[in-house]
Amino acid sequence: DAAEKAGFETFMLKEIHEQPTAIHDTMADRLHEDGSVDMAELALDDAALARIGKIQIVACGTSYHAGLVGRHLIEEWSGVPVHVEVASEYRYRTCLAGPGDLVIGITQSGETADTLAAMRVARQRGAHVVALTNIMGSQATRDADGVMYTRAGLEIGVAATKTHVAQVVALALLSLKLGRLKWHLTPEGARELASEIAALPGIVSTYLDSDAANDVADVARSYSRRPFFLYLGRHVGVPVCFEGALKLKEISYIPTEAYPAGEMKHGPIALLDEGSPVVCVATDSHVFDKVVSNIQEVKARGAQVIAVATEGNSEIEEHADAVLW
Ligand code: M6R
Repeated sequence: DAAEKAGFETFMLKEIHEQPTAIHDTMADRLHEDGSVDMAELALDDAALARIGKIQIVACGTSYHAGLVGRHLIEEWSGVPVHVEVASEYRYRTCLAGPGDLVIGITQSGETADTLAAMRVARQRGAHVVALTNIMGSQATRDADGVMYTRAGLEIGVAATKTHVAQVVALALLSLKLGRLKWHLTPEGARELASEIAALPGIVSTYLDSDAANDVADVARSYSRRPFFLYLGRHVGVPVCFEGALKLKEISYIPTEAYPAGEMKHGPIALLDEGSPVVCVATDSHVFDKVVSNIQEVKARGAQVIAVATEGNSEIEEHADAVLW
């Protein structure tokens, strides 16, 4: 079935529509209503997990961006410090991981040479190394002490989509588990997060079937001839921008940059001209007002803002030229 497009124009589009299933299958039988999480394949029992001092994540490309999202979740929910690094750099730096540390190599294929090499370096130093991968029996699973499988099904499109969201979900489960073990989350807090995670497949599915998804196509069409795009976000919106910009480059060949919005005034603002499209992640969060002030700065340069915002937030419409809800 994976080798057929099932009526979709491309494998990428088909795989985008398979995201609800990928998310559901990745959490199925691991996540429980009370906020507990089963992850026996990590090969670390609860006592050892509770003693983890720090976490390092190594990965490339889209998998690296999943790691950056994961850092926010792990640090916020469990208080464990996380360092995320591009695997091709990590492998050539002094490795400071050791016994008592957890190193997670994220690789959809399980075969990316730089990620495998970085995992090997960390393992030689005595860290517990886990492969987060979509492919059973891949090299990463053989080189690691433990595994965390995403269950996204085969991804044929070169641009990673469903495997990326499945990686984020797997990291959310790990964060929840650590948060409980470290007593960083209250039992009620863990239960609440579990129910929010469990609701994700339904939310994504409703979105993909809604008019909002068609509106994205209209916005894409109207901006498709622009020579350059800038993506801006804050907090977890930063890796979302990195990933969005990577997808835009990869699929459209349009030069694109992505920055933490607060960095814009330190140089990148010079790239903006009258009419330059700037995609701003402005979803509801504690940094919303900060993002709105960045939007005002880019508007003052004559740029056009495409905001990615939470449905129902009418304030953003006053500032943006187009909104992707
Ligand atoms: O299989 P991996 O996750 O290790 O692949 C790493 C990157 O090559 C990959 O994520 C790449 O960036 C995406 N396919 C881009 O969409």
